[in-house]
Amino acid sequence: MPIRRTSQSSGAAAREESRPPESAWPRARRVMAIEFVRRMRGASQPFLMRCDDSRLYVVKFRNNPQHARVLANEMLAGRLARRLGLPVPDRALVEVSPELITASALLRFELGGQSVRCDPGIQFGSCFPGAPGRTLVVDFLPDRLLRRVENLASIFLGAFALDKWTCNCDGRQIVFHREAGQEGPGYAAFLIDHGFCFNDGEWNFPDSPIRSLYPRRMVYESVRGLRSFEPYLSRIENLEPEELEDSVRDIPTEWCGEETEQLSRLVERLYERRRRVRQLIIDAKNTTLRPFPNWE
Ligand SMILES: Nc1ncnc2c1ncn2[C@@H]1O[C@H](COP(=O)(O)OP(=O)(O)OP(=O)(O)O)[C@@H](O)[C@H]1O
Ligand SMILES: [Mg+2]
Repeated sequence: MPIRRTSQSSGAAAREESRPPESAWPRARRVMAIEFVRRMRGASQPFLMRCDDSRLYVVKFRNNPQHARVLANEMLAGRLARRLGLPVPDRALVEVSPELITASALLRFELGGQSVRCDPGIQFGSCFPGAPGRTLVVDFLPDRLLRRVENLASIFLGAFALDKWTCNCDGRQIVFHREAGQEGPGYAAFLIDHGFCFNDGEWNFPDSPIRSLYPRRMVYESVRGLRSFEPYLSRIENLEPEELEDSVRDIPTEWCGEETEQLSRLVERLYERRRRVRQLIIDAKNTTLRPFPNWE
């Protein structure tokens, strides 16, 4: 069902200025898993797997301990992030064969003392940056190194706008990476873990002003006002309904739970709430957490 337009966009000039860098949604890449490498940490119990494009992917399975929709959330929110111009790992539909599951004794979930086999089929993969051993990848950095991340403020402020829009009910997660042994420019960042956007398997938006803040508050020091969240705010506000409809076309129905038609309702709601992000940011600013101490 097509999204109903709720209001006109704010003029061709503004639209042009806020036009995101990509001109079309690329279809999801499809790869075949060929090797189990290791378990990753995380409540969805993902696995690092080598695929037939010679790249490594952090793979979340459809029958993960959280919800099948976590996979749809990852694909959709990752695309939206990329569309806004934020750095996210490449994503893929990863096919895992029954033979690989049988041959890999560790492709199992640990659930309350029970061990459950991963299901074969199409899973979600988030590409691991670089090559293990040659690339350093970390979840956290001390403030001293965090300050040296490329585009630090822009990435975290864009991520905050994205998280407010998509109602990410998990903390903001970023991985930092750089070539091992490389001196100089410091780490680059990727936004990861969008499984709890749209409130996990609920696909609703229980907004809370204290959610989505990164625990290291120095990343928000540069905020002076709403203008600090540009160009991301305008990019969200000026997305066209057709663009959002198109963003979910190839998401597998088996990632969507029982009522698969809810996916079009989800993008409709994203379209409706695109102009509320400003207020959601102001609500966050006004909480007793005072996340933006330099707001003028
Ligand atoms: N694309 C990636 N590149 C490198 N490491 C990654 C990538 N995606 C995930 N990871 C690593 O795997 C871990 C688990 O991933 P993620 O946080 O997405 O899983 P989760 O099960 O949703 O976690 P949580 O317990 O926070 O819900 C991350 O903490 C990170 O270290
Ligand atoms: Mg996580």
